[in-house]
Amino acid sequence: MKSVAVAPAKVILTGEHFVVYGTAAIVTAVGIHSKATVSWRRDGAIVIRSSLPKCAISINERQCEILHGGQQARTLLEPISLVAQATLKESGDQHRGLNVQIESNIPVGVGLGSSAAVAVSTISAIVRLLSGKLDRKLTRRLAFESERHVHKIPSGIDQTVSTYGGVIVYQREKPFKHVVLRRTFPIIIGDTGIRRSTGDIVSRVKAFLAERDTLMKRVMKSANLISRRALVAVQQADRKRLGELMNLNHELLRQIEVSTKELDQLVSAAREAGAFGAKLTGAGGGGCMIALASPDNTTRVLEAIREAGGNSYLANIERRGVKSWLLD
Ligand code: PMV
Repeated sequence: MKSVAVAPAKVILTGEHFVVYGTAAIVTAVGIHSKATVSWRRDGAIVIRSSLPKCAISINERQCEILHGGQQARTLLEPISLVAQATLKESGDQHRGLNVQIESNIPVGVGLGSSAAVAVSTISAIVRLLSGKLDRKLTRRLAFESERHVHKIPSGIDQTVSTYGGVIVYQREKPFKHVVLRRTFPIIIGDTGIRRSTGDIVSRVKAFLAERDTLMKRVMKSANLISRRALVAVQQADRKRLGELMNLNHELLRQIEVSTKELDQLVSAAREAGAFGAKLTGAGGGGCMIALASPDNTTRVLEAIREAGGNSYLANIERRGVKSWLLD
């Protein structure tokens, strides 16, 4: 018997970084996915395989053996083995062995929540194998705990949206709210191709803001206001207004120094090609930006991002979060 779970990536429309300190953010699941396929093993080992990049490790008696893909296999797959172990432990089954196969289309380390989606799909597939059910609450909690290994002060936004899907207003320590959309709209993604570590950038921002009290207060207040206004714009599917707010949000992110020359270039190219607005998305320091445009202008904006050196594509809002099922 096997189980499968598929979890979506995300883009943050407004409020990244500031969300770590308690302000509201708006985030949406998008139709790019991580798929985990899980089955029991008799030998007690946890074997994790990934198809992109092709790599594999085996964990037995806490020893990690690289089966394929060198050191990169360990860096990419060890966090998944921790997630798998934590899920088994939660159910009192920590001595059972597992095969976990990951197939993900989500680019790694560029702000689209790939580590959260991989964790959410892995946990959900194991929970389905153990109990025959989908348990979103447990999945979100375990994925959040695993994110603490990646960076120490995660807001939990990535795990929440990958688990529950749709567009979400997210604020730390508060119940998240799903946004009811009048109409859905596509989001333009531009990728600088520069990978970075969320944990490193979040730590850098923490040190930067610790020395700048006045700036901290000002940016937090503005970020909260932007997210509140963005919520109304999203509800009304008002891309023009949302774009303007995204432009303002990008300026705040520049002030805390998480944008880069490459991100600014893609953002400017999108705006000059007539986008309603554009901003970096996720932790910054490289990674992706997003833009909104009218249907007539979308192709132009996608091309302008490519001409400015980015890889660009369209993503749709994904209303559903993680799904899981059993296979015979
Ligand atoms: O770049 P990503 O996909 O890891 O997103 C990080 C979002 C932050 O707000 C910067 C961090 C967090 O935990 O919310």
